[in-house]
Amino acid sequence: MISLRSISKSYRSEEEEINILHNINLDIKQNEFLSIMGPSGSGKTTLLNILGCLNKPSSGHIYINNEDITNYNNNQLSGVRKDKIGFIFQNFNLLPRLSVLDNVILPLIYKRIKKRKRKILALNALDRVGLGGMEKKYPTQLSGGQKQRVAIARALVTEPHYLIADEPTGSLDSTNTTIIMDLLMSIHRKGTTIILVTHEEDVANYATRRITLVDGQILFDSKNKE
Ligand SMILES: Nc1ncnc2c1ncn2[C@@H]1O[C@H](COP(=O)(O)OP(=O)(O)OP(=O)(O)O)[C@@H](O)[C@H]1O
Ligand SMILES: [Mg+2]
Repeated sequence: MISLRSISKSYRSEEEEINILHNINLDIKQNEFLSIMGPSGSGKTTLLNILGCLNKPSSGHIYINNEDITNYNNNQLSGVRKDKIGFIFQNFNLLPRLSVLDNVILPLIYKRIKKRKRKILALNALDRVGLGGMEKKYPTQLSGGQKQRVAIARALVTEPHYLIADEPTGSLDSTNTTIIMDLLMSIHRKGTTIILVTHEEDVANYATRRITLVDGQILFDSKNKE
């Protein structure tokens, strides 16, 4: 479970301080599939980056499985990310000079997994996303949907507890959006917690819980309607 308690985030520019997130309280249980919607600039990516331990709040506390990680240093936070969190982004963020296989292997190198095991795990992850046999290709040879599936394989290969996705279908057509969302659904059913930001109503509808962020505050949470 990830818990946010009174999380605020502000940025200082020149003289003034701009508040982006205001007093956010949120509990995300293991195996939830949460979507976050809201206007551009409402703080969705900022919130996601705090949930993903990529950025620190200005005030408040963040707990992962009841452990207060608020004051972890950068090293400790990168440890949490490596062990527990997978990321996917709108622009896939694949490394163009690496083959599909080597892109998926990368997080396993950071985790110091042995070479032979790395390859087995990466091929297995590519199979899971329906890209078996594509391992020798390079990102430029793939369609957008295929690139996103490689990115999902890369996120899943370390078996993270959480998958964090910032507009993962934002650059895809509707056919590929459906393929990616069906894949995320099957990943969710196997027990991974998914937290997804989207601008698309159809995409948000895949989630089991939906929240809407407006001006850095949670204005709607489908959980409170139950
Ligand atoms: N590093 C930063 N320094 C200063 N301001 C920032 C920084 N990161 C984000 N902001 C500001 O915080 C606000 C929220 O940004 P954020 O990226 O979280 O919005 P968003 O909801 O994800 O928007 P979009 O839907 O366009 O992706 C914006 O006004 C943005 O300019
Ligand atoms: Mg954003």
